Amino acid sequence: MKTLPEQAIIDELNKVAFSPEGGLLFNPEKECMDEQLSFLFDTFSQINPGAIIETGTQRCLFDLFILTNFPKTKIYTCDPWEKSIEAVKVMEKYFPSQIEFKNASSKTLLNNFSKDIKIDAAWIDGDHRYEGCYSDLLGCSELKIKNIILDDFRLLPCIKSAIDSFLKSNPYHKKGESGAVDSRGIYWLERSEEK
Ligand SMILES: C[S@@+](CC[C@H](N)C(=O)[O-])C[C@H]1O[C@@H](n2cnc3c(N)ncnc32)[C@H](O)[C@@H]1O
Repeated sequence: MKTLPEQAIIDELNKVAFSPEGGLLFNPEKECMDEQLSFLFDTFSQINPGAIIETGTQRCLFDLFILTNFPKTKIYTCDPWEKSIEAVKVMEKYFPSQIEFKNASSKTLLNNFSKDIKIDAAWIDGDHRYEGCYSDLLGCSELKIKNIILDDFRLLPCIKSAIDSFLKSNPYHKKGESGAVDSRGIYWLERSEEK
């Protein structure tokens, strides 16, 4: 069963990096939020992540959810937004040395990422335009990341288009998607075995 993060930490993150945007732990549609969190919990339970890459740190809510439920995980994350720096500082108090943050775009993180570090999964949640999402997918494929999980494919048709184009010419297949009550939509891709 998933554990919800402590409200006091959520409040602290929200204070230093307020964003009017909804998100994983700020969703007026309670059933949608619950399905998103349950799907992520089930997915990452199967993956059993040692290390994750995230594009789009924002106020670290994904990181907080993951580290609350999978406390041994290391997360490499990036966001050009300056306020994410403050959010990461808050996280550092509760989860020391578990987040490595770059105040930069996902292109910078993914293109310079060491191929010697084994990454079990990527959470793509940064630039929500077609080109941005497609570029993140390609960056993850270059790193041969086994699992790629994306947010918002139902909310934003361009995310689904980027996934469909990516699947046409890259060795990945669909592994799952969140239930229909999740109007934002989480999509899980798995790298196909190399022949
Ligand atoms: C939906 S929010 C991320 C929410 C966060 N992943 C979570 O689950 O709590 C999207 C974030 O992506 C960031 N972003 C936009 N373009 C980006 C890019 N090219 N690389 C990395 N992050 C980007 C924005 O600044 C914003 O903070």
